[in-house]
Amino acid sequence: MSEALAENLDISKDSEMKEDFLQDVLKGLSAAEKRLSSRFFYDTYGSKLFEKITQVSTYYPTRTEIDILETYAEDMAALIGPGATLIEFGSGSSRKTPILLHALESLQAYVPIDIAGDYLQESASSLAADFKNLNVIPVHGDFTSPIELPKKVPLENRVGFFPGSTIGNFDRAGAEQFLRNAGQTLGSNALMLIGIDLQKDISTLLHAYDDPEGVTAAFNKNILKRINKELGGTFDLSKFAHESRYNMSEGRVEMHLVSTEAQSVKVQGQVFHFEKDENIHTENSYKYTLKGFKALAEKACWSVEKVWLDECQLFSMHAIRFKG
Ligand SMILES: C[S@@+](CC[C@H](N)C(=O)[O-])C[C@H]1O[C@@H](n2cnc3c(N)ncnc32)[C@H](O)[C@@H]1O
Repeated sequence: MSEALAENLDISKDSEMKEDFLQDVLKGLSAAEKRLSSRFFYDTYGSKLFEKITQVSTYYPTRTEIDILETYAEDMAALIGPGATLIEFGSGSSRKTPILLHALESLQAYVPIDIAGDYLQESASSLAADFKNLNVIPVHGDFTSPIELPKKVPLENRVGFFPGSTIGNFDRAGAEQFLRNAGQTLGSNALMLIGIDLQKDISTLLHAYDDPEGVTAAFNKNILKRINKELGGTFDLSKFAHESRYNMSEGRVEMHLVSTEAQSVKVQGQVFHFEKDENIHTENSYKYTLKGFKALAEKACWSVEKVWLDECQLFSMHAIRFKG
């Protein structure tokens, strides 16, 4: 990684993030209904597993969103106009970004933000090598709180990019808060392109989150692996089974880890007991209707300017503008 790229990555955040991880785990495992936060799936190994999921045949969101981006990139670029600074939330591999970068005119900078610091370094370096004249400013951060960008990120013409339907991992209040925070980061009247997965038949949804190759199961269990490695946990991964469920009243797919026997696990000396079949709720993926997402955006002071869909209407890309 070049010096210019490396100096934007604030490694001092690592200890803060570790403390946050520990507190979230202790609180989540002490709850009457055990839960862990999906943002902790993503260390480098988890990020690579997520990339593998995107290639699984039953996982329709990535290829559908790429199809929408490839079909309408010029249209999106025309709406954005020249001279923008593109700020991507939860950039991961940045695999979708080049589609937009090729279409945008006179981009000032590209700012990928992600919680997985090492993987962010890798993908930012790789993108900077492919786009030699582009000012790439990676930011290691957690977007569940407002993010203050480095001073070198231009204030003018900031445009958000939040693909992958990652907003679906928030409950409705969390999604509204994220949108308000993103609006503060981007500025008044800013535009954001946001990928939203749509409601569809339950079988398609459940298969997307439970592939026959077991990649999603390994991704789900990676949170336990991280607890063992980073927080001195004693989880036996073979004693937890991956399960995806559809919660009809909430309109979301849920991922759980189910204890296959009665057992006790320690994290930093604290003991947590599991009954047989007791589960840890690890992820939500809310699915929206177009009307439902519009209402959410408006509640958070954003207005929907344009929506692009694939032919089968599985997925959507929205251009929204901040009115706050
Ligand atoms: C579902 S993946 C999507 C990756 C990529 N944007 C895509 O569309 O394929 C979610 C990404 O958001 C990142 N992420 C998850 N929670 C985060 C948080 N709280 N703050 C910053 N990044 C986060 C993960 O590390 C991961 O790269």
